Amino acid sequence: MAKTYQRNANGRMALIWYQRPLLWQGVAGIVLLGSSIIRWLYVKLAGIGLRVGWLDTFSFWFLVVSALVFVGLLTFKVWYFVKEVKAAGKYSEYRTQKQAIKAIERGLLSAGLVRKTVSETVVDVPSCEFVADKTHTIIKVEKLPSVADLEKVAEAINSSLRKGKFANYAVSEPLQTADGLYYLFELNDVNTNLSFIPKRIEDLVPDDPYRFKLLAGSSPVFWDYPNQPHALLSGLTGSFKTTTAYLILAEALGAGCDVYILDYKREMLGFKQILGDKNVVSEPSEILSLLSRLVDDMTLRNERIGAEIERRGVVGLNGKDLNARPVFIFCEELGALGEALGKEKSTLHGYLKTISMVGRSSLYMLVNILQVADVNSAPAGMRSNANLKILLGKSTSEMITQMFSSGYIDVVTKNPGKFKGWYFLNGYSTQPNLFYVPNLHENGLNTIETFKELYEVGRKRVYNEMI
Ligand SMILES: Nc1ncnc2c1ncn2[C@@H]1O[C@H](COP(=O)(O)OP(=O)(O)O)[C@@H](O)[C@H]1O
Ligand SMILES: [Mg+2]
Repeated sequence: MAKTYQRNANGRMALIWYQRPLLWQGVAGIVLLGSSIIRWLYVKLAGIGLRVGWLDTFSFWFLVVSALVFVGLLTFKVWYFVKEVKAAGKYSEYRTQKQAIKAIERGLLSAGLVRKTVSETVVDVPSCEFVADKTHTIIKVEKLPSVADLEKVAEAINSSLRKGKFANYAVSEPLQTADGLYYLFELNDVNTNLSFIPKRIEDLVPDDPYRFKLLAGSSPVFWDYPNQPHALLSGLTGSFKTTTAYLILAEALGAGCDVYILDYKREMLGFKQILGDKNVVSEPSEILSLLSRLVDDMTLRNERIGAEIERRGVVGLNGKDLNARPVFIFCEELGALGEALGKEKSTLHGYLKTISMVGRSSLYMLVNILQVADVNSAPAGMRSNANLKILLGKSTSEMITQMFSSGYIDVVTKNPGKFKGWYFLNGYSTQPNLFYVPNLHENGLNTIETFKELYEVGRKRVYNEMI
């Protein structure tokens, strides 16, 4: 329900009297006090022999009813308070959220994003509410006609939060709730550096082998790749694509995944000493024959999964449910590789599209790295099936459109800054968010030795080898 504000004697806008917190509890308290006095009087009068029959019944029931109303209102208030504190997690968090909501409502009020009711002096401010869980902080704003200009609303919210815990946060375009009554503005940390900077090798070993950490911060971002299969990393030369791919590679090794590297640029040949000559290939013809073999293996695994589904009589089983060993295929500089293949580029794209479409259930994951995600380098079937998209470094409107969609030109800035980019993780958020390049350099983890150790740790993990 909207909150109504009225200009008070000092000329300030204040919550209208009947909406003040604790007002009705106060009134009920006063009534309870009154009824107690009446009852007390009655008892005193009765004590000196002045017994008034109707006053006995009246004072008794008046006291009972007013006590019930008072206790009822108080219980409701306490219940509501407990509910809100529980939703916030702890009391300090509840206080912070309350203050933020107050600041936002004040912000909307001073920006004039209010519904004028009786006159200029009485206005309705849309009610706001925090909806927070582990990964998202959302501000729910009542959809009054006055908040139609969403850009203004976002601006008002952002400037209201300049102080306090949410100073680093900002909102962008909102969603609407299904009932159409509220806007949902997602709050995102836009200033804190969220780079994943592992301290030790163990930090790169995923606790859950089916989930890789991408970003650090108070609520880290994980890539739940069985449900969000395939990655597309794009950006101009030097935008830290390979650096980002190394993080995924490190975690894939630490999780004990099978890893293949198609390395046309011959930057990653050092990994041959860990993975062997068969898993790291750079000649275009070798790359094609490896992909052909992988597609065959993947098809076989899918058949085994199909047979398992039939045997167990359970539908919708996938590689993760069956504890299958994930397979990660890193494809470096896809654009250049395609060019080098000439006429056979379509064969390459055919394999990649097949893996993009079929790899989800069998846990064959593609990590495609390329400069520009245009149709020449990345066919549509591959782009639309990549659930993790990262656009690194400087970009153009065209690159943004190719990676995300033209609808995000306003959200995604063309120059996010060094060691930054934009990412979209399907199902995680509704629009691209800032990406921070991981940093293995800081603690000297950018060595082949690190990857070798990760490989050894990962190999100890037990998977179902029958799948
Ligand atoms: N945190 C870092 N500090 C210093 N240099 C880095 C850091 N991260 C990456 N680099 C270096 O930056 C260079 C460019 O990154 P790279 O990932 O190869 O870009 P791209 O693959 O997009 O061309 C590489 O030489 C890499 O070693
Ligand atoms: Mg590179």
